[in-house]
Amino acid sequence: MKALVLAGGSGTRMLPLTHTTAKQLVPVANKPVLYFGLEAIAQAGITEVGVIVGDTADEIREAVGDGSKFGLDITYIPQHKPLGLAHAVVIAREFLGDSDFVMYLGDNFIVGGITDLVENFRRERPDAQILLTRVSDPTVFGVAELDGEGRVVSLEEKPTVPRSDLAIVGVYLFTPAVHEAVRAIRPSLRGELEITHALQWLIDERRDVRSTTVPGYWKDTGNVMDMLEVNRLVLETLELRIEGDVDEESQIIGRVRIEEGSRVRRSRIVGPAVIGRSTVISDSYIGAYTSVAEDCRIEHSEIEFSIMLRGSSIVGVGRVEASMIGRNVTVTPAPAVPHAHRLVLGDHSRVQISS
Ligand code: DAU
Repeated sequence: MKALVLAGGSGTRMLPLTHTTAKQLVPVANKPVLYFGLEAIAQAGITEVGVIVGDTADEIREAVGDGSKFGLDITYIPQHKPLGLAHAVVIAREFLGDSDFVMYLGDNFIVGGITDLVENFRRERPDAQILLTRVSDPTVFGVAELDGEGRVVSLEEKPTVPRSDLAIVGVYLFTPAVHEAVRAIRPSLRGELEITHALQWLIDERRDVRSTTVPGYWKDTGNVMDMLEVNRLVLETLELRIEGDVDEESQIIGRVRIEEGSRVRRSRIVGPAVIGRSTVISDSYIGAYTSVAEDCRIEHSEIEFSIMLRGSSIVGVGRVEASMIGRNVTVTPAPAVPHAHRLVLGDHSRVQISS
C-alpha cells in the first residue's frame, strides 16, 4: 500500500496568517501540521509516499526532505496548478501504479492517526473508504448522505443546502478502481476535478464505497478557535522535557517542554505548554495550552491558551489569551493616553465614566 499526500495548492486559499508559507506547514504544538500526517502514515506501516507540491514546493521540500526522518521514502510530484484533488490522483498515476493507497490532505489533522483505518481497509478492501465527521458548518466541506444502514448514497461538494452535517475528512482509501473514476469526471463549477465527484461516480457505478465516522478532526479553515483547540489536544499528550536553561527564580509546573537554547528567567510556566528553541521568557507567566515557537521573546507579560509563531515578541502588555500570533509580530503597550474627556452632552444626559 502507498500514500499520496497533497501539499500543493496556491496562496489564494491560505489564511492571512500564512501568506508567505504553505498552509500545510502551520505549526500545531510547534510542529507543522503536515508532519502529523506523515507520522500517522509511517505508523500505519506505509513507507512509499508521493507528495503533491505546487507553488510552495521549495518550502515543503525543505521541511520534509527525502522523508527519511519519518522513516518514509518520498517522491515529489509537481502539480503546475491546483486543479483539484482528483487531478492530483491523475498526475500521480505512474507513482501509484496498481497499488491500493491512502490519500491524505496535508492540511488535515486526524486525532488518533490512521492505523486502524488502514488495517481495516487492507482486510476488507472495498473499492473506496472515506472518513466522515460531524461539523457545525457543512457548507465548506464535501458532505455525505447515508442510508439507514450507514451506506453512502450521495456526496456533494460544498453544498449551499447540505443534506447532512457529515463532512468528508481529508483522508481517503482507494483501490485502483479510483483511476477509472478520476478519468471519467469533468471539472466542477470552480474548475477543479473533485474527488467527491469521483466517489459519486463510483457509487453510481454500484461500486463499494464505505464510510467511517470519526470524532477527532481538524481542518485549517482559518478558524482561530479550531486551531487553538487542536493545539490543546496535541499538548494534552506532551511529556515533561526541559532542554533549555531555567533559572532558580522560575517555576515550571506540570508537563512543559522547553527546547534547546531557550532561556527562562524569573517566570512561571504552567503546562501543558511548549517553548521553542532560542526563545527567551523573562518576568512573565505562560499558562496552559500555549505553544510558543522558536526565536520568540516574552517579557513582563502573561500569555495563556495561545499559539505564537516564530520570531515574535510580546513585551509589557499584561495578559494575552485565546490568541493566535503570526511570525515576526511585535506586541508592545500603547503610549499612555492623557486622562481627559472631551464631551458634548445634551440637556439631562446621564453619563457614567470609569476612570
Ligand atoms: O479537508 C476536507 C475537505 O477537503 C473535504 O471535505 C472536501 O470534500 C475536499 O474537496 C477538500 O476541500 P477543500 O476544497 O477545502 O480542499 P483544499 O483546496 O483546502 O485542498 C486540500 C489540500 O490539498 C491542501 O493541503 C492543498 C492540497 N491540494 C488542493 C488542490 C485543490 C493540492 O495539493 N492540489 C490541488 O489541486
